[in-house]
Amino acid sequence: MLRTHTCGELRITDVNKEVILCGWVKKVRKLGGMLFIDLRDRYGVTQLALNFETQSHLFDVADSLGREYVIKVKGLVAERSNKNANMPTGDIEIIVSDIEILNTSKVPPFTIEDDTDGGDELRMKYRYLDIRRDCVKNNLILRHKVVHEVRNYLSDRNFLEVETPFLIKSTPEGARDFVVPSRMNQGQFYALPQSPQQFKQLLMVAGIDRYFQIVKCFRDEDLRADRQPEFTQIDCEMSFVEQNDVLEMFEGMMKHVFKVVRGIEFDYDFPRMTWADAMKYYGSDKPDIRFGMKFVELTDIVKTSTFSVFNEAKAVIAIAAPGCAEYTRKELDGLTEFVKRPQTGAKGLVYVKCNADGTFKSSVDKFYSQEDLATWAKTVGANPGDLILVLSGDDIMKVRKQMNDLRLEMGNRLGLRPHDTYAPLWVVDFPLFEWSEEEQRYMSMHHPFTCPKIEDLDRLETDPGSVNAYAYDMVMNGVELGGGSIRIHDRELQNRMFRALGLDDATAQRKFGCLLGAFEYGAPPHAGLAFGLDRVCAMIVGQDSIRDFIAFPKNNSGRDLMDGSPTEISQEQLDELCLQVVRK
Ligand code: AMO
Repeated sequence: MLRTHTCGELRITDVNKEVILCGWVKKVRKLGGMLFIDLRDRYGVTQLALNFETQSHLFDVADSLGREYVIKVKGLVAERSNKNANMPTGDIEIIVSDIEILNTSKVPPFTIEDDTDGGDELRMKYRYLDIRRDCVKNNLILRHKVVHEVRNYLSDRNFLEVETPFLIKSTPEGARDFVVPSRMNQGQFYALPQSPQQFKQLLMVAGIDRYFQIVKCFRDEDLRADRQPEFTQIDCEMSFVEQNDVLEMFEGMMKHVFKVVRGIEFDYDFPRMTWADAMKYYGSDKPDIRFGMKFVELTDIVKTSTFSVFNEAKAVIAIAAPGCAEYTRKELDGLTEFVKRPQTGAKGLVYVKCNADGTFKSSVDKFYSQEDLATWAKTVGANPGDLILVLSGDDIMKVRKQMNDLRLEMGNRLGLRPHDTYAPLWVVDFPLFEWSEEEQRYMSMHHPFTCPKIEDLDRLETDPGSVNAYAYDMVMNGVELGGGSIRIHDRELQNRMFRALGLDDATAQRKFGCLLGAFEYGAPPHAGLAFGLDRVCAMIVGQDSIRDFIAFPKNNSGRDLMDGSPTEISQEQLDELCLQVVRK
């Protein structure tokens, strides 16, 4: 070992110890006849002190030190005269007796401080320097702790961690696959798994009973703050369970992780909300329930005037923003602009100010009397001082989504979405299918192995859109942390499911033959779910972007700015794979 201690561990009780430390030069300061060096490693920072009079032999080497040089120093731990209460090692310093430069460094392209001068791109390009910053490093430490606690919790409950292959058959459902050409099998391709879904079900058939895996998943989809092309799942599956067993097991896991890693205790059962209610009251299948402002449908009570917009609308939805009746013209125009953004896509916004004196002032005063508006306010539950915001349209789902955007925006403006408040819930009873306009067919909302609710089974063929599933998501602060379902384990039901998805028997066999075959050899009833590990980590510390919790993430175009991938490959490699690149 080159060192006796790390840069984060020496305390006042270590005074007079002879120590050797190694690390990176964070800062060098000259003060009178003294030279001070802040030495950093993964564990912290320790101040080194050099007296030029007594240690003149070290002058040359000390004077040559630059930022981020790697050095080894020998010295004596001494009490510091000017203690630094902000540093765990701030009571001591090392009186240096020897310095050895282990490596030099170019001047780093940005300062290695939490508050750095480096922009996003630069930091990603030099991610290995970025990780030296405490804020990034601490995220990786947090991630390690989360993974460690997940493993502890699940191992204690008899879950077995089993690895599944990364080179698998391509069966895209939902996102696009990343594909890998096979050299040994010309013209054939593997896919990287979007999740180990079929393998974990096969493990249930194999009798593994309780499985988990902390596993990389790959999806070629459009990227956002909470989406990476390669991300990590905490993937789980259990046999001989009902939905409630799964929810309790994994609610317990999340409570354990939050408590042990961050000291956050949830001493209550996570509420459960049906998908239908989530859509009705929040316009989202991942409602942020840190704050109220639930939707109220006014469709039937606003048709009392000649206001054609509402008279013709199939859905009129309102929320009451507390204490916003004083909003200025400019603020209201700002909200109208917000809902008209292409991402939100509303045609306009109607507002009603509920004045403190009990009167109302609205953007539709021409059409509605004070009594009409009083009825609206009562229905919405708005109090004097509140601002009622109303959106309308032909398609209720679209209006709900637009109102979801507006509600979240109001939540932000009113400071109702603090990062250190956590509001978890389970969203349950998802529809089994969603209609795809693009493909003109029903698609699975989760995946084709999700079990329909028994009571809805007789409508699978006649009214598939009305069938609900034993499917559930864990949602926190408006983020989907994880989701899963009870699986179909009956071969005949699985066939009905494929037919409802428009897959004939031959296609189903070609795509999923392996799993279907396994189902003929005694598949147990089973269920499972997967959490997005990156999202769980970001949530625990109240951050939005998962990128900071991944050591080497990709940017929004799927590029690794550090290694430059993706790149072209050589003609030789292409030839070997019998591939030709056709440029569009
Ligand atoms: P699902 O597709 O819902 O389910 O994924 C499970 C969880 O993985 C996370 N996640 C992502 N995180 C970062 N970047 C992405 N691109 C990304 N995509 C998904 C989310 C999500 O909740 N096999 C099923 C699970 C099951 O049924 O057991 C599945 O993959 O947090």
